[in-house]
Amino acid sequence: MSERVYIFDTTLRDGEQSPGCSMTTPEKLEVAKNLVEMGVDLLEAGFPIASVGDYEAVQAVSREFPEARVAALARTVPRDIDRALDALDKAKKPRLHCFIATSEIHLKYKLHMTEEEVLEAAVKGVEQARRHVDDVEFSAEDGSRTSLDYLCRISKAAVDAGATTINIPDTVGFMVPEEYAEMIGRVVEAVGDRAIVSVHTHNDLGLAAANALAAVMVGARQIECTINGIGERAGNCSLEECVMIMKVRSDRVPYYTNIRPEYLYPTSQLLARQITFGPQPNKAIVGANAFAHEAGIHQDGYLKNPLCYEIMQPEMVGVPATNLVLGKHSGRHALHERVKDLGYEEPSRDQLNRLYEAFTALADNRKGLTNDDIAALVEQFQIRKKAVRQPAEVLAPIA
Ligand code: KIV
Ligand code: ZN
Repeated sequence: MSERVYIFDTTLRDGEQSPGCSMTTPEKLEVAKNLVEMGVDLLEAGFPIASVGDYEAVQAVSREFPEARVAALARTVPRDIDRALDALDKAKKPRLHCFIATSEIHLKYKLHMTEEEVLEAAVKGVEQARRHVDDVEFSAEDGSRTSLDYLCRISKAAVDAGATTINIPDTVGFMVPEEYAEMIGRVVEAVGDRAIVSVHTHNDLGLAAANALAAVMVGARQIECTINGIGERAGNCSLEECVMIMKVRSDRVPYYTNIRPEYLYPTSQLLARQITFGPQPNKAIVGANAFAHEAGIHQDGYLKNPLCYEIMQPEMVGVPATNLVLGKHSGRHALHERVKDLGYEEPSRDQLNRLYEAFTALADNRKGLTNDDIAALVEQFQIRKKAVRQPAEVLAPIA
């Protein structure tokens, strides 16, 4: 029996706070609607002390999606926690998420606090939150660069104070999977079954999803992630990547989530329309080229059996169809298929050979050919369009 991993979506908080990603409350509500339908377990809707917009977004998401578990972020300082609690006032299932940095670097240069002072602030923050809500998450910011003994000590203290989730962020995306797994394994051991251990990974070295899954393998049961991997600097762990790794490689990563994968691509597209950029074309799962094939050998293999080059079907993640891109690397087989798809009669062997020669000459100087380019070429070789039979109901009525 595989175990459940909770998906904590922070697209509207960590994602939204990064350059080019601000959204208005109505835009956030539209994204939230998709996230709820997709099945995320938690929706972090904002950092209420940071701006009026964040405060209102937490209120609006709580009001519009009463069945969703909504999280609001706060530092472990009384006024932050009060503001976040206030924003969550109408939420039916509120989570107060409080954090303080724990690494030596942050203590020395940012907070000017000792380890004992930070521990005391963490405990007080969790206690303050617990007086109002049952569901409290504590995050040790820059946890991955914190001494392991102190990390375990502060995690246990937060649980004793009432935290139900302990999150260990790799705030600066510095970890490699083996190392992060070792650290998370120790925290899991320290808190036992008194709290869920969560991971929050950033992608500065391109390892966010790998680190999150390595942590799941040793007992983490919540992943904090965002659509399209948006977030501070190089972004957060991408929701679509970690969900599909567990789905496609359940033989090796035997955990499941509540996510409906067919929502992944439509939600990625929706987010891209709300912010200033979409996923890079070669982005795993949701990029424009994620299910595109151009090389002749690949197209031929794909046409013989998609399993040759596809580890998941595009429809699984809501992508309309595989895209065979016709360009200079394409082969005769793909060109032949496209001629038929465009509604032309079957070309003779000689026509196809001559057409292919003309096609490669044209494609050599281009980045890719559109269907209109192909149609114009096909017509030069006297290959005709098939006659289209009009369905009876669209024929003009007899007067
Ligand atoms: O990256 C980070 O450390 C965070 C925390 C506030 C959870 O986003
Ligand atoms: Zn973060």
